[in-house]
Order: sequence, then C-alpha cells, then structure tokens
Amino acid sequence: MNPSPFSEKIMPLKGEITVPGDKSISHRSVMFGSLSKGKTFITGFLDGADCRSTIAAFQKMGIAIEKDQNHVIVYGKGLEGLSQPSSALDMGNSGTTTRLISGILAGQSFTSHLTGDASIQKRPMGRIIDPLTQMGANISSDCGNQCAPLTIRPATLHGIHYQSPVASAQVKSCVLLAGLYAEGETTVTEPAISRDHTERMLRSFGADIQSNAMEKSARIIGHPTLIGQSIQVPSDISSAAYFLAAGLITPNSEILLHNVNTNPTRAGILKVIQDMGGSIKYENQHIVSGEEVSDLIVRTSSLTGCTIEGDLIPTLIDEIPMIAVLAAFAQGTTYIRDAKELRVKESDRIQSITENLLAMGADITATEDGMIIRGGKPLHGASIQTHLDHRIAMAFTIAGLACDGAISLDHPDCVDISYPNFYEQVQSLIQE
Ligand code: S3P
Repeated sequence: MNPSPFSEKIMPLKGEITVPGDKSISHRSVMFGSLSKGKTFITGFLDGADCRSTIAAFQKMGIAIEKDQNHVIVYGKGLEGLSQPSSALDMGNSGTTTRLISGILAGQSFTSHLTGDASIQKRPMGRIIDPLTQMGANISSDCGNQCAPLTIRPATLHGIHYQSPVASAQVKSCVLLAGLYAEGETTVTEPAISRDHTERMLRSFGADIQSNAMEKSARIIGHPTLIGQSIQVPSDISSAAYFLAAGLITPNSEILLHNVNTNPTRAGILKVIQDMGGSIKYENQHIVSGEEVSDLIVRTSSLTGCTIEGDLIPTLIDEIPMIAVLAAFAQGTTYIRDAKELRVKESDRIQSITENLLAMGADITATEDGMIIRGGKPLHGASIQTHLDHRIAMAFTIAGLACDGAISLDHPDCVDISYPNFYEQVQSLIQE
C-alpha cells in the first residue's frame, strides 16, 4: 500500500486547472489521421498509456507519427496505406484501441494479431467479433473465449444494418470503421445513444457519415477519401469529473476547470450534479474541432441523492466511480440502474466501487446492474484496492481528500492510463 501523498487534514481546494485532453478524441485523431491522405496536426493530445498504445500500433503499421510536448503529427497514407506489422500489436490496457482498431484491421489485405495486458485479455470481444463476422470479416479469438488475443485475416467486407445489443461507442465505432472498407452502406442502431466522437470527427475528415438521433443510429458509406485535418483536443470531461466532485465535497472550495468537452453524449455528470443540488457554472461556451467546450466552475455544495438510469447511463459511464463517491457524501439515497456495462470495464466497477466504499464506512449495496448508496454516513480513510483501474484510483483519491483520515492506494501509478499528472494537479489546488 502506498500512503496518500496528501495531508490527513481536510483542506480547501481552490484555483484553476486545465485537465488533460480527451482520451476518446485523442485515440480517434491518431486513427483517422493514419487513414487519411496528408498530415494531421493534433494539439492537446492526451499523453496517457492508452493513447500511446494507439500511436505505437499505427507506427508498427508503417505510419510516421511525431510527438513532442504539445503536438502530435500523423503522416497519413490513406485508407489503403497501412502495412503488415512484423509482430502482434500490443493494445496494453486499452479497450478503445482494441475494439476500434479491429474494425480497421478487418478491412486490410494482411493478417494481424492483437494482444494486450491481463485486463484486456478478460474483456468481452464477442461484441465486436459478431458484427464484424456478419460483415464478412475473418476475426477470431485465439483461445476461443471471445477475448483477446485476436487474429484478423484478410476478407471482403459488405455493409450491414447492425442492431447493437449494447449502448457502446466502442462497438458502434468498430462497425463504422469496418464500414469504411465495406461495399455499400453500414448502419449501427443502439439501445441508447453512446458518445458520438467517431461520427463527428470522421465527417470532418471527409467521410459520408450521418447520425439519426431519433433512431439512435449512425450510417456510413464505404470507400471515402479521408483528408488529414488539424484537431484541437478539448479537456476530457471524464478527467474533469474528479475535480468537479472534489470542489463539491471538500469544504470551502472553488475550482475553475478550463476548456472542458461538454458534448451532450458525454455530459451526463453535469446533469447529475445539478440534480444533486451541486453549484456549477458554465462560462465561455464555444465549439472546438466540432465539439462543445466550456469552462466550468464548481463550489462546495450540500448534495442530495438522486436516481441515475436509462439513456443517461452511456453519457456518464466512465464517471460512475466518481459519482458513487459523490453519492456517499450526499444526504439521502442514490440509485444507479441499467449500468451492467460497469462489470466489463478495466475492472468490475460495481464490485470495486462497492468494496472500497464499504471499506470507508459507506452504506452501499451492489446490484446486478448498479448500486444503491444510502449517503451521509461518516466516511473514514481506508486501504483502497484499485484492481489496477485508473478511474478507481482517482475517484478514491478524491474521496480521501474529504473524509476523516487518509486513504492509501495499492497501485497509485495506474492513473497513467488516462491522467499522468493527476496527483500534481490535485496538489496544486490544496490550500495548506
Ligand atoms: C469509449 C467508450 C466507452 C468508454 C471508454 C471509451 C470510446 O466504452 O467507457 O472509456 O472512446 O469509445 P463503451 O462505449 O464500450 O461503453
């Protein structure tokens, strides 16, 4: 166990920060840049381990990608420009890389192998194997368990209309990316709308792609010519979530977060904060690279429990560890339902949230598809089991700032997946 680097005393948090770039948008900017003709110039790229896995995979397929402190430049070679990697592509811990790249690789004229860390090798890939197979792809799970390692062989793809059983942007994006290589039209319909960065960004690169919000579907026409773009990656609302929560639950606090992506398919946490009675202000709202962006100001607030379910879930799926902690600090009961997807994230998050909140003294019951949190119990420090899940490490670090005593983490470094300078940014706000 690593003791918390922060004081045991509860201190106010004050100041302003810009959290790192959006992970979903960073992945896509490198992928789509690689499949485009010409140069894609990316600012605000998230230099976390997951996005480095995406860069390394495309470099291994012959794409020149330069990275310095502030920029990434991708020298794309067009849809048919990838070359066969000399060995297996390593996805690390990244579900987004694995699922999106599989859609791209399904349309290549070479065989590829995908592998990843222990967590990736347990995450469900049947959800992409099924639709890709329906499109004519030749993709299989090496161990026959519908998980990575995967082998993808050359095949001719055709468009399909896929009714996805899960609201997952990774599944939707995988099928749409295979649709780039398919004859005709490929459509994906979801039970609820998931994040739409693929649709927005592919359109800006020149793809013929349309969303239909009423039908909860997206449609793409095969074989476009994609052209390199300049992309400004806004700050990730999933990373901002830790500081939104910290500002709300830590006494005498006020935090300004710059340039946060507030795309409505991602911004469910802002609605939840309002429903719980949290003080949040929007300033300087504008559009950056086709995405809504705002500065956000939060202040310490008395929170009340609420119900989070249905179509709202995909818009805050990665924020649920932090929201569960907020609910434990709120008065009254919070119900989280329809969130079974949490069981197949970097860890089983229903389990990892519940076990750690119980260790801190919270009153929480896990359900099959969510949690019931009876808030307002006094919370105390505890040894937190991260399960190597970055979002568990960060959500409980924030809980540790506002509870009695300090928390310790078994693997604090796992935050490098999505937020390498997390602890430094926390420290910069603490008013000693
Ligand atoms: C992501 C989609 C989400 C999210 C993940 C990133 C993406 O997964 O949990 O962190 O970039 O498309 P699902 O869409 O599978 O729920």
